[in-house]
Amino acid sequence: MTPKLFSRLPLVGLLAAVGLSTAMTTSVAAELDAEAIERGKAAAATCVACHQADGSGMNIPGGESWPRLTGLAPDYIVNQLKAFKDGSRNNASMLAFATMLNDEQMKDVATYYASLPVTQPTPPAVDEALLKHGEKLALKGDWDRYIVACTSCHGVGNQGNGVTFPGLAGQHPGYIAQQITAWKNETRKNDPQNLMAVIAKRMDDRDVEAVSAWLATQPAKGQE
Ligand code: HEC
Ligand code: HEC
Repeated sequence: MTPKLFSRLPLVGLLAAVGLSTAMTTSVAAELDAEAIERGKAAAATCVACHQADGSGMNIPGGESWPRLTGLAPDYIVNQLKAFKDGSRNNASMLAFATMLNDEQMKDVATYYASLPVTQPTPPAVDEALLKHGEKLALKGDWDRYIVACTSCHGVGNQGNGVTFPGLAGQHPGYIAQQITAWKNETRKNDPQNLMAVIAKRMDDRDVEAVSAWLATQPAKGQE
């Protein structure tokens, strides 16, 4: 897909063209299988060292941040664990932990994290001009540079849309920046149709810092 074509297609048409659903899913917590949650809790015993007992993760400025896992669609988590295992998402910290889990355990831990209440992190303070720039990218994009607004895919309030588009609002800024960089460096290559890689490669360092900082200040799903 050339940048020109990408910019001219209306987004909904683009998503339909690549076979992705824009259907919103409602909260899944009510329908989660209680036994899977229990099994998942046991299988998640090793995860708490980094992702914390409540699944809230941690922002580690200057280091490798641990994402919040609560609030993500279970199928999204399963897809990511498979991607770490098969190397299409290349991360040394996660490789061993994803490899430990079989397909059933992946579903169970994903169900467990989806059952936990979503927490809102306290983002580090950054200057107002940077936040403004981040807000613009997240809500309006920058069409001169073919950067599509994050919210067009990541849902209303950037709180996620179905199993394909994870919520970004209230995620740790260090983690968001880490992922955009991973797509730029092609160490994360598991996104459908290269949708994120295309956008990531058009963002400069200031864009990445700004959009990550702003998204972190926004209410996560259920926190508004
Ligand atoms: C040593 C620390 C560590 C441990 C232990 C760990 N993780 Fe992670 N996890 C990370 C890091 C770091 C990332 C971000 C990786 C990246 O940058 O791609 C991550 C990312 C993830 C993601 C991707 C989230 C997203 O939003 O895409 C999932 C899912 C995940 N971990 C699940 C688990 C599970 C389940 C376990 C336990 C079986 C576990 N992790 C154990 C450090 C850890
Ligand atoms: C054309 C659709 C589209 C747009 C626009 C888009 N994204 Fe994404 N994004 C995706 C998809 C699809 C994924 C999930 C990739 C996967 O399955 O691994 C994703 C995943 C992510 C993730 C990983 C989250 C996690 O929990 O692992 C981050 C961070 C991200 N996007 C940031 C952004 C930012 C910042 C913007 C706006 C500048 C943006 N995205 C715009 C499609 C999009």
